[in-house]
Amino acid sequence: MLAMNYRGPFRIRVDRDRPVPKIEHPFDAIVRVTRSLICGSDLHLYHGLVPDTRVGMTFGHEFTGIVEEVGSGVTKLKVGDHVLVPFNIACGSCPFCKQELYGNCHESNPEATAVGGFFGYAHISGGYDGGQAEYVRVPYADVGPTVIPEGMDIEDAALLTDVVPTGYQAAEMAGIRKGDTVVVFGAGPVGIMAARCAWLFGAGRVIIIDHIDYRLEFAKKYAYCEAYNFKEMDDPVVFLKRQTDWFGADVCIDAVGCDAAGSAMQTITGKKLLFQAGAATALHWAINSVKKGGIVSVVGVYGPPFNLIPMGSLMNKGITLRANQASVKRLLPKLIDHVLAGRLNPKGLITHRVPLEEISDAYHIFSAKRDNCIKPLLIPPRANFA
Ligand SMILES: NC(=O)c1ccc[n+]([C@@H]2O[C@H](COP(=O)([O-])OP(=O)(O)OC[C@H]3O[C@@H](n4cnc5c(N)ncnc54)[C@H](O)[C@@H]3O)[C@@H](O)[C@H]2O)c1
Ligand SMILES: [Zn+2]
Ligand SMILES: [Zn+2]
Repeated sequence: MLAMNYRGPFRIRVDRDRPVPKIEHPFDAIVRVTRSLICGSDLHLYHGLVPDTRVGMTFGHEFTGIVEEVGSGVTKLKVGDHVLVPFNIACGSCPFCKQELYGNCHESNPEATAVGGFFGYAHISGGYDGGQAEYVRVPYADVGPTVIPEGMDIEDAALLTDVVPTGYQAAEMAGIRKGDTVVVFGAGPVGIMAARCAWLFGAGRVIIIDHIDYRLEFAKKYAYCEAYNFKEMDDPVVFLKRQTDWFGADVCIDAVGCDAAGSAMQTITGKKLLFQAGAATALHWAINSVKKGGIVSVVGVYGPPFNLIPMGSLMNKGITLRANQASVKRLLPKLIDHVLAGRLNPKGLITHRVPLEEISDAYHIFSAKRDNCIKPLLIPPRANFA
């Protein structure tokens, strides 16, 4: 089969002769991919920022597909079902899954001190091959995969595997109350979706911050928010204080994570020398821009071992910090409803539709923020469009 193959930082190729995965456990299914996406989380891998990202790995944790084969223990999924597959691999029965913390499953990842298993991510999250391929092995097939509802567009379904739940959970964790001023750092797909979802929770004002003009323009239209370029500010924290009567925002959302730009010190220590786990610039700004007693919600990804953040501000301002990988399965029923009712329009984020064979170009365009790219969708050659 055709599959993406990671060869080291900034190097991706397509294999044409990878063996099709097989059932390895009674709870597995084999899914033939119909659509997959590239995520900002894949860029952390692509940029070589995630420990134990192994050469030969196939990335891809956002995909839909048709069930080709099921293991003997699978009871809910049937061959022929067209499913969307949450990025979290969750057993459904460990103590964390029982609390609906599906991103923190204790069974699906041998290194499960923090996250559970993810498709197509580094070996710190289980080392499972992902969906930027023609076929994927899906463990615990009765737990995650969800049949695409009647009438739902396949592109909307693909975005329900990660971007929509992550953006929504960012707003949910922010504890937004009616009339709140919400600041979102990062105008990538996740930040834009978080900004859009903030309104669903009753926000009174939504501001998004980035340094890429086309993304800010896109965010303004898609998420009906204010958008500002931090490159045009002397100090983003002072700018945001000025915007909020000098109190600070009620809530701040970090939708950037460890690949942040904007601080030479963070970039050198985090991305060049790897003395910390990437650059925590946006998180730093979020903590300093939120008001006293406010909430900072973090969905931007940080990995081991640690990052430099202003702990003194966090402590002395009485800030509540909430963070996690999105718990996709927990949120799906509500979000399917929002999409079918037209309150959310996920596929509006997709700017590029690329054949899987050209995945290397898609990574380059998305990573370098070329060609006004917001979100690239990959289409495998033999995808059944039905
Ligand atoms: N928690 C989860 O479950 C989950 C799921 C999906 C993605 N993520 C993470 O969310 C983050 C965003 O994902 P994405 O797909 O939107 O990525 P993306 O790379 O497309 O977008 C990130 C944006 O942040 C901007 N940015 C860089 N430095 C900034 C700064 N200092 N302040 C403000 N903006 C800054 C970039 O210009 C870019 O537009 C990533 O860290 C990704 O790993 C988390
Ligand atoms: Zn993702
Ligand atoms: Zn579990």
